[in-house]
Amino acid sequence: MSQETWAAVDRYIEDKFLPADPVLDAALKACAAAGLPEIQVTPPQGQFLQMLACIRQARRILEVGTLGGYSTLWLARALPAGGRVVTIELESRHAEVARANFVAAGLADRIDLQVGRAADVLARLATAGGPPFDFVFIDADKAGTADYFRLALRLSRPGTVIVVDNVVRKGAVADPASTDAAVQGIRRFNDAAAAEPRVTATALQTVGTKGYDGFALLLVTR
Ligand code: SAH
Ligand code: DHB
Ligand code: MG
Repeated sequence: MSQETWAAVDRYIEDKFLPADPVLDAALKACAAAGLPEIQVTPPQGQFLQMLACIRQARRILEVGTLGGYSTLWLARALPAGGRVVTIELESRHAEVARANFVAAGLADRIDLQVGRAADVLARLATAGGPPFDFVFIDADKAGTADYFRLALRLSRPGTVIVVDNVVRKGAVADPASTDAAVQGIRRFNDAAAAEPRVTATALQTVGTKGYDGFALLLVTR
């Protein structure tokens, strides 16, 4: 199996299930034109996240790591009237692209973009004590993932679904001796999730246009 095959199958899946979407395509184009790193979720992954949020009937969604807002748009489309996505981004250059994409998509009114370090913004949200989130997508710097998970738990309730991106890292996650800070960050997150009695957790490996990686899926049970 090769990257070429994985990409061909992703193209096939997109052709089959994901009709042309001018709004999302324009957002991707704007991200590329602004020179943002092309690390957003793939279209099938975006649809998958949107469907998970729909299945959860999420009214309040939290995202950590906005980039140009591509995954945010998928998630915002899962919301019922009056629903809200809070999305956190460190880089103001990324946030500006995202903000323009939210306006162009007509979804700016249901997206709350917070610019700052995720740990700071999450701690502030936890202290503010607003209503809990129904669905959380963690996709920022991998070294911080364990911290974002712990903070997201404080913003959750029984039934909250948490998805964490990039937890396989071409298989490197299974190597305890890896010197990659991202891999060690994900391993610390896995340790925290495994030791946390309030969640049920698993992870699934994925292949596709972005290569070999995976998602963790957590359900807050108490
Ligand atoms: N979820 C996006 C991709 C996010 S890429 C999508 O699929 O479309 C990861 C993003 O996290 C980058 O934009 C990066 O700037 C941001 N990031 C990195 N460290 C961060 C931090 N400490 N706090 C908040 N955002 C951070
Ligand atoms: C990277 C980050 C991501 O969120 C992703 O999905 C793929 C790659 C990265 O930092 O390399
Ligand atoms: Mg990612």
